[in-house]
Amino acid sequence: MQPSFLHLASLILAASSVSARTVLSAIAVNGVEQGHGVAVRVPTSTLSAITDVASNDVICNTNFIQPMSNVVASVPAGGVVAAEFHHTSAGYTGPDPADPLDPEEKGPVLAYLAAIPDATQAGVTGLQWFKIFEEGLNTTTHQWGSDLLFINKGYVNTTIPSCVKAGQYLLRVEYISLIQAAQYPGAQLFMSCAQIEVTEGGDATPETVSFPGAYTPTSVVTDLYNISSYTAPGPAVFTC
Ligand SMILES: *[C@@H]1O[C@H](CO)[C@@H](O)[C@H](O)[C@H]1NC(C)=O
Ligand SMILES: *[C@@H]1O[C@H](CO)[C@@H](O)[C@H](O)[C@H]1NC(C)=O
Ligand SMILES: *[C@@H]1O[C@H](CO)[C@@H](O)[C@H](O)[C@H]1NC(C)=O
Repeated sequence: MQPSFLHLASLILAASSVSARTVLSAIAVNGVEQGHGVAVRVPTSTLSAITDVASNDVICNTNFIQPMSNVVASVPAGGVVAAEFHHTSAGYTGPDPADPLDPEEKGPVLAYLAAIPDATQAGVTGLQWFKIFEEGLNTTTHQWGSDLLFINKGYVNTTIPSCVKAGQYLLRVEYISLIQAAQYPGAQLFMSCAQIEVTEGGDATPETVSFPGAYTPTSVVTDLYNISSYTAPGPAVFTC
């Protein structure tokens, strides 16, 4: 991409709306960076916010950069996958006050796993998901998951539970901007799916949910300016 085009694109984004932008486009496994777009289905940045929780786009996003990665990253159970969000689908492109996200766009950060026969297969409907990570609103520090994502320079470091079964999975990592979430639709869901193979796992059988289905419209309605506590959408976090 030409620098002039990037500059033009960012001007258009700045002028067009108040909507957030952030894209998960890379992962690190136990501290080892896998590379931009490797083992991740990367949506194009201008279309990456999903607002319809009943849409199949809520599963792994849509309008992926082609070709999608054919890499499945190997992760030992109990290992850490760091999902990396940046302001655009190009990844980190230099200093940017809104990288990885606009810090005013508060909201939770969540992660889910679903077993899948082949983590590179195109079809992602009908999978069974369980939540492995959640940062909502910390009422002691008043920090949101989004604040921690900003402080952590876009990294969401999730531990793959040590008891999950070995095999291929999609890891769905999500940030929800609540800045326009007082009504539905309004919450902006940003997610990508990473393609991983868990090795050395256990034999856990977590309770699961479906996407779409796990989120109801009311579960993503929040008046950011009038809350004392916050319940993130979806099920409880699975622990071993
Ligand atoms: C998260 O993972 C990344 C990549 O491995 C690492 O650079 C960073 O220090 C980790 N952050 C935290 C808070 O552990
Ligand atoms: C809130 O933040 C404090 C201070 O960092 C931490 O000790 C506590 O565990 C956090 N609470 C939750 C629910 O994450
Ligand atoms: C704030 O929330 C409370 C409790 O839900 C509600 O009664 C009140 O009307 C809300 N205030 C505004 C300004 O929306």
